[in-house]
Amino acid sequence: MQVSWSAPSNIAFIKYWGKKGHQLPANASLSMTLNRARTEMSVSVEKKENNKSELDLTFSFEGKAEPQFEKKIRDFLLTLSDFAWAKDYALKFSSKNTFPHSTGIASSASSMSALALCLLELEEKMVGKKHPHFLQEASRLARLASGSACRSLYGGHVFWGEHPDFSAGNDEWATPMPSVHENFQEMGDAILVVSSAAKKVSSREGHNRMAEHPFKAARVTQAQQHTALLLQALAQGDWQSFQQIVQSEAMTLHALMMSAPRPAILMASGTLKILELIESFAQDSGLPLAYTLDAGPNVHLLYHKKERTRVVSFIQTELLPFCEERMWIDDEIGDGPKKL
Ligand code: DP6
Repeated sequence: MQVSWSAPSNIAFIKYWGKKGHQLPANASLSMTLNRARTEMSVSVEKKENNKSELDLTFSFEGKAEPQFEKKIRDFLLTLSDFAWAKDYALKFSSKNTFPHSTGIASSASSMSALALCLLELEEKMVGKKHPHFLQEASRLARLASGSACRSLYGGHVFWGEHPDFSAGNDEWATPMPSVHENFQEMGDAILVVSSAAKKVSSREGHNRMAEHPFKAARVTQAQQHTALLLQALAQGDWQSFQQIVQSEAMTLHALMMSAPRPAILMASGTLKILELIESFAQDSGLPLAYTLDAGPNVHLLYHKKERTRVVSFIQTELLPFCEERMWIDDEIGDGPKKL
């Protein structure tokens, strides 16, 4: 028996940064699902030869054993009482990314959402459990593995968390947003790879640093206000407000890390250079674009695809000199996971 899924990464416009309770977000977040940056995962299951009661699990990434990730999956499965059946089987996980893994875009969002989809489908097939709200349950499961992964279960724009202006929002799982203004339906995301090195501080550690942060309460208030404004901008097709809010979110994420009791700089010098160049290009050209960052040095340049030719030529002439080996990933808004 084997199941296989392909799941995409996502980029947050409003950042999830700080937690409460059991893997729940301190504030609502909102993202766009990507198309090309994806993880493909397969799990094969066979009845165990021996009758030992521990979990028999192997994990390989792009054909090679990956003990660290194997441990992560093992520890995660052991926390899930619904998966006790798995102890009677030998489970083989194998995964690969559709983008070069040397780009430093090691996406826990795509891998953990692919994992959740495989596990739920296996549960249906192996023990006959029915999941009438399959994607919602997969989103909940993905959240337990990695928060941002819960937003990768749906295409388009996705909302996670509670907010007075989005009544379908929920802390336990993410929800696809009803269609936004056409100005935001055709979006490109150029991921500029400033450094392919592993992140200096993991997201998990970054969330931990928010727990004792002096600006913690102010951050939650700001994120909720930004969410209200972004919902309006997305509904009205307002790129100017979109740019202001999304860029402020990116800078806030990094400023919070710099001002944490244990400070960390997650940008590199090339990051700042690229941000300055994007700011002046946006000002001079008036094109609908915005930058954002995740918790690392790489820059996401979001733009309306009708301006693709001008944006790509700007990237090639001005931004690629600041990217590692001129690397970038030419991504765009996507439709969500696919069963393979
Ligand atoms: C900066 O989802 O990686 O990308 O729940 O601890 O696995 P864990 O954290 P993770 O945090 C992502 C943080 C972010 C912002 C975002 O995607 O919203």
